Amino acid sequence: MPVITNIEDLRRIYQRRVPRMFYDYAESGAWTEQTFRANTSDFSEILLRQRIAVDMSNRSTATQMIGQDVSMPVALAPVGLTGMQHADGEIKAARAAEKFGVPFTLSTMSICSIEDVAENTTKPFWFQVYTLKDDDFMQRLFDRARDAKCSAAVITVDLQVMGQRHKDIKNGLSAPPKLTPKSIANMMTKVQWGLGMLGTKRRFFGNIIGHAKGVSDPSSLSSWTAEAFDEALDWDRIRQFRKMWDGPLIIKGIIDPCDALEALNVGADAIIVSNHGGRQLDGALSSIRALPQIMDAVGDKIEVHLDSGIRSGQDVLKAIAMGAKGTYVGRAFVYGLGAMGEAGVTSALEVIQKELDVSMAFCGHRNIEDVNKEILMIPRDFSDKWQ
Ligand SMILES: Cc1cc2nc3c(=O)[nH]c(=O)nc-3n(C[C@H](O)[C@H](O)[C@H](O)COP(=O)(O)O)c2cc1C
Repeated sequence: MPVITNIEDLRRIYQRRVPRMFYDYAESGAWTEQTFRANTSDFSEILLRQRIAVDMSNRSTATQMIGQDVSMPVALAPVGLTGMQHADGEIKAARAAEKFGVPFTLSTMSICSIEDVAENTTKPFWFQVYTLKDDDFMQRLFDRARDAKCSAAVITVDLQVMGQRHKDIKNGLSAPPKLTPKSIANMMTKVQWGLGMLGTKRRFFGNIIGHAKGVSDPSSLSSWTAEAFDEALDWDRIRQFRKMWDGPLIIKGIIDPCDALEALNVGADAIIVSNHGGRQLDGALSSIRALPQIMDAVGDKIEVHLDSGIRSGQDVLKAIAMGAKGTYVGRAFVYGLGAMGEAGVTSALEVIQKELDVSMAFCGHRNIEDVNKEILMIPRDFSDKWQ
């Protein structure tokens, strides 16, 4: 077992072990990737204030997200095709998350289905839905999530149109992968991955095939996807979704204070400040830079969470100190999963928790719930330098 001391170690192993097509799928942003890069680099503009000679014993990173206990304020973000990064990937990641005491969010576009993940785990997970045109299918997704005892629904609202990642087009990304001379040559170098995939029957979009009208096999999926997403989405439509699901609800994909104010009227339990990991609008603000203005607009009225760019416990600490009640990691857990399966996801979570815990102590705190902006040094014009 390799010695893992940080998330970058996992990314490097992941890159070696997983076919190029799926590595590129995760490790890319839209168009020039400006926002993808800013998501991580903007975190490093914020500095932490080190304190000494304060009691740093008996620390705790435990808190709550939407009223549910978490061992640290970090959930696994919904990531499509997770089951292509490692055989049975969603089940592996969900198991690592439940043992660690953090929420796992299953994507609509997962390989393992809602029912399959529920059967193979012991604690409730969260389910993410996209905003699709087909009412029946949407209602059935919520019903299936309820039957599977999901303890929250996450509605992703930033995918009315799709951002373009050049590499996915050039690689001919698909699940399962299309067999071309180039993809076969690459997959032959990923032996462990290939053996895992040969040993599982979970290789298609489990929530869609056999459930969506007219999608009975993988070949009809691409035409369904092109048709299914609702370009005409508006807030009334989002309020209809609220009526379809009576459990805890989280709205994901808000990057502007005006939209955060709109989200208040939907009756959600939380919003996620997110630019989809830089995969949608290239040139949009990084999430961490968008957070202060959103906190000012709605922070005292609704729970605010954040994702996009988190690669360390220090990043989590900064987001929490700026007022977020929780964070999510997408790529950071995918690196772990692709590198070493369930153990790799656990390793990613351990790295982040250790960094969070020790950084919190250095800043003079023992409890994550007590952390606030005073531990930060934020450049004066960090989030209000626009006209
Ligand atoms: C490979 C990949 C697939 C994703 N698929 C989904 C998805 O199916 N649904 C969704 O709401 N967000 C999806 N996202 C966005 C993540 O939920 C999350 O917002 C993003 O990964 C956070 O940024 P980070 O990767 O820098 O942590 C995806 C992200 C990645 C990297």
